[in-house]
Amino acid sequence: PHARVTLDPAFTVAPVRRRTFGTFVEHLGRCVYTGIHDPGHPTADEDGFRGDVIEHVRELGISTVRYPGGNFVSGYRWEDGIGPVEERPARLDLAWHSTEPNTVGVDEFMRWCAKADVEPMMAVNLGTRGVQEALDLLEYCNVEGGTAWSDLRRKNGAADPYGIRMWCLGNEMDGPWQIGHKTAAEYGRVAAETARAMRMVDPGLELVACGSSSSAMPTFGEWERTVLTEAYEHVDLISAHAYYFEKDGDLASFLASALNMDAFIDDVVATADAVRAVNRSTKRIGISFDEWNVWYQDAAPSVPPKDSWPVAPPLLEDHYNLADAVVVGNLLISLLRHSDRVLSASLAQLVNVIAPIMTEPGGRIWKQTTYHPFALTSRYAVGEVLRVELATPSHQTATYGDTPLVDAVATHDAETGAVAAFLVNRSTSESVTVELDLRAFGGAEVVEALTMAGDDPYARSTVEDDTSLAPRPVTATRDGDVVRLELPPVSWSVLRLA
Ligand code: AHR
Repeated sequence: PHARVTLDPAFTVAPVRRRTFGTFVEHLGRCVYTGIHDPGHPTADEDGFRGDVIEHVRELGISTVRYPGGNFVSGYRWEDGIGPVEERPARLDLAWHSTEPNTVGVDEFMRWCAKADVEPMMAVNLGTRGVQEALDLLEYCNVEGGTAWSDLRRKNGAADPYGIRMWCLGNEMDGPWQIGHKTAAEYGRVAAETARAMRMVDPGLELVACGSSSSAMPTFGEWERTVLTEAYEHVDLISAHAYYFEKDGDLASFLASALNMDAFIDDVVATADAVRAVNRSTKRIGISFDEWNVWYQDAAPSVPPKDSWPVAPPLLEDHYNLADAVVVGNLLISLLRHSDRVLSASLAQLVNVIAPIMTEPGGRIWKQTTYHPFALTSRYAVGEVLRVELATPSHQTATYGDTPLVDAVATHDAETGAVAAFLVNRSTSESVTVELDLRAFGGAEVVEALTMAGDDPYARSTVEDDTSLAPRPVTATRDGDVVRLELPPVSWSVLRLA
């Protein structure tokens, strides 16, 4: 089969937003403890942060990091995590049936962000807490000094305010599993009032209301409508969360997961814009897709045995294969394609917990398959996202019916002339030859083509070998205005021109 992709620098969606390449660090399993923080590790710095993890964060090209949860935040007392470490209380973490030692808190996290050169995205607890505690945390973080909380931050070693711009107003408050779960009307009121009060401290904050924790939630749609009806004028973004995995051996449907993400985004945009019309509002709400990934929700343990409350147990340590990486690459294509309304996104999560980076406590670090499409998309998606014209054969899948075999997006950097096209082939058996029509780009030359593919879609990288499955250089042939690239079945590719 053949597919055709036509690119033109005149047809743009929006600028590539660096915040598309965010991730997530939750106090969950080994994400914080023995993940980013591992004082006994040979590469640990004076704060106990692993240098090898920070190096990988840089290579991944991560922009923002959401913290500290996740379900964890809905029972979290942020004050437990400040001041002398030896005086901090250990607490039950009900979300993950664990013990939280509070060795790492907001000051440590902010030091880590500075070292890793990432922007923090801070979540407040609207499960067991409310407006006052959110204001206290904001004062602690962002007020220069001269008040109780800001002076305490200074006393704890941070003379300058942190200036955190992005704040999540709770987490997945639509989920019955959430501590302090609320109806849409209850949550919408709390979100609106928390946002209104936080803006009294700093009108320039960027505030994210909780949307749905999946488009399969029974409240999806109605939740967004009700929450935004209450909070529209007080918030800037609404969140979306989505996790995908292969069910019942249906690889073809799983490979098409980005179709679900596309529809999810379109539906949230439509709902937000409907509220806008009713409100006669002039502003538009953006989407913060602040949890997305492949997550085999019924595979790796997600809570420890009921009679134990361990510290940093191995939870949600999914081990990804080639097909998972192709899906992650395709989900990034979907996010980029929607850059006009998706203003921020977070791959959930960063280390050990459904993560691209894995660490052994005190030991080795390795890259999952999903690491590669993320790192390369973050590196090469620069400038404007192009609205590509795609003609592709399709096949039938059980979940999506008529399913396009190829998906693609492209970016163009007008300053350097660099063009990058990101492509997937969702066929489980057939190669597709893609012809990229570049007539609008004059003499652009192929710089490089990299493809991630293999004989076994279920092959995984391991701590011993995390490179064999990494994308490899392939040949893209130029014929006049057309560049031809062969996309093997179950593959992700990037083609670079300049
Ligand atoms: O990322 C893992 C969990 O998934 C988060 O804590 C929660 O927000 C979501 O349900």
